[in-house]
Amino acid sequence: MDNGLVTIPGRYIKPPSHRAVKHLIIPGVEIPVIDMAALESDREKFVQTLCKASSEWGIFQVLIFLLREFICSQLRKIIFKIFYFLFKEKMKYYTEEVFVPVRYCMSMTPSQETHMEWHDHFQHYFSNREKEHPWPKKPACYKLMSALSEGLGLDSNRLVKSFGDSEMILRSNYYLPCPNPDLALGMNGHTDSGGLTILFEDQVGGLQARKGDLWYDLKPIKNAFIVNIADQLEILSNGKYKSIEHRVLVQPDQTRLSIVAFCNPSRDAVIGPLPELIDEQNPPLYKSTLYQEHITNVYTKYLDGKHSQKLQI
Ligand code: SIN
Ligand code: FE2
Repeated sequence: MDNGLVTIPGRYIKPPSHRAVKHLIIPGVEIPVIDMAALESDREKFVQTLCKASSEWGIFQVLIFLLREFICSQLRKIIFKIFYFLFKEKMKYYTEEVFVPVRYCMSMTPSQETHMEWHDHFQHYFSNREKEHPWPKKPACYKLMSALSEGLGLDSNRLVKSFGDSEMILRSNYYLPCPNPDLALGMNGHTDSGGLTILFEDQVGGLQARKGDLWYDLKPIKNAFIVNIADQLEILSNGKYKSIEHRVLVQPDQTRLSIVAFCNPSRDAVIGPLPELIDEQNPPLYKSTLYQEHITNVYTKYLDGKHSQKLQI
């Protein structure tokens, strides 16, 4: 799609130190792909595979055939319509406040950023404490969290329980074609601050995950969702599961859409390494923090090019 821009507006130009460096990018063939059907057919093997992917990578693709087909045909159309056609409508929701029920924004908090991210997004935020909301009471991410609990040798509901009344954020990101894609980033490198993230993307590509100094391309797979471990699961598992840093590159000639569900703890949950995982050989690697405090740090201290924070003590 042509958005009429010939050069990139100055506020989106990243300083050289923040740009993607081509020779540090790897095709990413090693990033695990897990078939969700195995959850029913061979749970033990599924748990093992999930646990390995979460420990070695913290990000993986999950094949779920039917759901993906539905989302492809319906949700994408709706979201495209919201971003593309209804400019006046979406500006009614424009805000830099992060925790409002519905938010539309460009980048994260543009007034505080020197270098903006090349995306717009809509965000719907809600807590399971609210009795009336239109979303599933037991979202799909609970199934994965149960398996992740078992992978730690714990009861299947242990991780979900530690979240309290979990909070969900549903977010759709819209990345327009960028006339100078090498100078900008769709989204800066960051780890997700919550619990578990489930992401659906179209076939355009651009998402990358970081291991060491290298960035691995996540090649879009039809019929797959991308799942990544976020900070609170790394902390609860005392570092067994990894909250991986990721970012998004932009394209010169294609619009990219992604839809992301963040499954997060309640704001008043105190999150620290689970006591069952701690003994003399395995001391706690993280301190316990109120989740509210963790996200306040993310949104105040770590903006502008780097919104992941050091987790370990
Ligand atoms: C995100 O990290 O929140 C979104 C990444 C993407 O759009 O693929
Ligand atoms: Fe993210």
